[in-house]
Formats: sequence, C-alpha cells, structure tokens
Amino acid sequence: MQQRVLRPDGPLPSDRPHPADWLHFAAEVDGEVIGACSVGPSVWEHPQWMVLVAPQWQIRSMAVLPDHRGGVGSMLLHAAVTAARQAGAGGFWADARVAALGLYERAGWQVVGPDWVKPGVGPHRYVVLPPPTPR
Ligand SMILES: CC(C)(COP(=O)(O)OP(=O)(O)OC[C@H]1O[C@@H](n2cnc3c(N)ncnc32)[C@H](O)[C@@H]1OP(=O)(O)O)[C@@H](O)C(=O)NCCC(=O)NCCS
Repeated sequence: MQQRVLRPDGPLPSDRPHPADWLHFAAEVDGEVIGACSVGPSVWEHPQWMVLVAPQWQIRSMAVLPDHRGGVGSMLLHAAVTAARQAGAGGFWADARVAALGLYERAGWQVVGPDWVKPGVGPHRYVVLPPPTPR
C-alpha cells in the first residue's frame, strides 16, 4: 500500500528498506490496509537547523489511500509518535513532501531548513518534533 501511494511509478534508486528494528502502523477498514506509516531510530544529520535530543527517530512512508484521506494520516502519526516515545525516542524528524507539511505542523512539528528536491518525487522540507518539555 505504501509503495502504491508513494511510488506509483516504482521504487527509486535511492530507496532503502526499513531497518529490522523499525515499527510499522497500519489503519484498516474491513480488513483492508488503507493507511500506514513507519518509525524507527535514525540519526538526525542537520543539527545546524535544530538540535534534537538523542536517540533521534524518523517517521517514514506516511501514506493513506486517496478515498480514505481526512484524519487517518494524523491518527497514524499520533500512534507512531506515542509508541516511539514509549520505546525511548527523543526527538523526531522526517523529510516531508511540501504538500504534506500541514499534517505535521498541526501535530506540533516544526519546519526547518531550506526547501530541497527529492529526485523523482518533488519538493521537500525537513520537519522535527522535539521531546515535550518537562513541567
Ligand atoms: C499525507 C497523507 C498521508 C495525509 O493523509 P490524511 O488522512 O488526509 O491526513 P490528515 O487529514 O490527518 O491530514 C491532512 C493533511 O495532509 C496533507 N495533504 C493533503 N493532501 C495531500 C496530498 N495529496 N499529498 C500530500 N499531502 C497531502 C495536508 O498537509 C493536509 O493538511 P491541510 O489540510 O492542513 O493542508 C495523504 O494525503 C497521502 O497519502 N498523500 C500522498 C503521500 C504523501 O504525500 N505522504 C506524505 C509523505 S511526507
């Protein structure tokens, strides 16, 4: 499902499989997976834009089938961040398509660094979510 939504023309040469220790979340309707995202430990390599508490975790492969969009992406993001925090995640980061920035910003993520283009996909920005500040 993630491949169908994110890579309709097939994988890119730069695509890498998710490491074995990553967590995967799926939204299902009547037994069909209609949305998914993945999260796992991954070093943030741009501290010049935001210093993120280690261990840093990355969200990847966020995708919802077109007929089911409208809230599912936010639920997947919340589930992934919550589970990752329980597993010991510090700060989070993702490389987000520009069209999807609102999804992250509404969940409290911050857009950092300049626009950049992922070859074969299009314009991207980095988004980050620092850990909550202790009260
Ligand atoms: C991004 C995506 C997962 C959101 O799913 P969803 O169930 O609609 O999620 P939500 O309703 O919680 O969030 C809606 C946000 O998705 C983003 N969005 C809407 N249409 C989009 C599209 N065609 N492509 C990418 N992002 C989109 C917007 O940021 C929108 O927020 P806004 O209305 O404030 O601008 C879904 O649109 C999708 O699979 N898009 C194609 C793949 C993709 O771009 N994945 C993200 C890679 S970083």
